[in-house]
Amino acid sequence: MDDQRKTELRNELTRFASRYWAGEAEVAHAFFSVPRTDAEHLRWLGLQAYKELQPRTDGIIIKLIEKLTADYGKLEHGVDRHDMLYAAQFLEEEFRHYVLFADVIDHITGKQVTMDEVVKYELPGETDLRAVRKEFADKHGALAKFASSFCEGGGASIYYEGMLMTGSPLAEHVAHACKGVYEDEVDHAVHGASDLAGAADTEEDWALAKEMVAAISEQRVRMRNEQFGFPMSDVRFAEMVAGTIEIPERYAAMLV
Ligand SMILES: [Fe+2]
Ligand SMILES: [Fe+2]
Repeated sequence: MDDQRKTELRNELTRFASRYWAGEAEVAHAFFSVPRTDAEHLRWLGLQAYKELQPRTDGIIIKLIEKLTADYGKLEHGVDRHDMLYAAQFLEEEFRHYVLFADVIDHITGKQVTMDEVVKYELPGETDLRAVRKEFADKHGALAKFASSFCEGGGASIYYEGMLMTGSPLAEHVAHACKGVYEDEVDHAVHGASDLAGAADTEEDWALAKEMVAAISEQRVRMRNEQFGFPMSDVRFAEMVAGTIEIPERYAAMLV
C-alpha cells in the first residue's frame, strides 16, 4: 500500500472516530455545566486517577517501569534510544496525570488518597472496556494494540471540557489538572494513529482497524457516561453511533 493511500485511510479513520470523541465531550460538558456535589466529583476523579495509575499487575505504569528496566540492558543493541526516550516520557506523563487527579481528590477529601482507595474507584464500564481491548488483542495481536492506542484519550475531550471550569476553588483545581493532561493526550492519540498507520498495510487491515476502533470507542463512551453519572441518553448514544452528532472543529488538528 502506498503512503498516499495510507494517509487517506488514516484521515478517514480520524474523521470516523471523531463522532465518539464528540460523544465524550458532550458527556463531560453536561457534567461540568451544572454545579455538582463532592461525591459526584469524586466518582469521576477517582476513576480518572485509577485509569492513569492502573494499580494492578498488568497496569500501564508498572509495565512501563518493567519495560524501561528491560530496555536499558539492550540500549543500542536492539533497543532504539528514541523509542526508549518515548517510553520514559510516556511513563512521566501518565504518572503525572495520576498525580494531578489524585491532588484534586485530596483537595476535596482533605486527606491523602491511598492506592487501595484508588482501586475501589474502578467502575464496571472501565472493566468492560479493558475486556473489549483484551479480546481484540488476543485475537488480532499488534494491529489490535495499535487500534487501542488510536483510541487513547478519546480525542482528549473530557480534559478539554474540564479545562474550561472556573468560578470556585474546586473548579480551578479541576481546570489545572485537565490543562496538565490535555496536550499530552492529544499527542498520545497522534502517536497511536501513526503507530497504527505503520502496522496497517492492506485495505483489510484498515477495515479491521475501523471495526475495532468503533467497538472500543463505543465502550469508551459508555465508560465515560458512567463516570459522569449517565448524562447521555440511549437515543443520543444511537445518534452518536450513526454519526449525526455535531463534530467540534478542533479534531481537524489530528488530520495529517
Ligand atoms: Fe493519561
Ligand atoms: Fe495517555
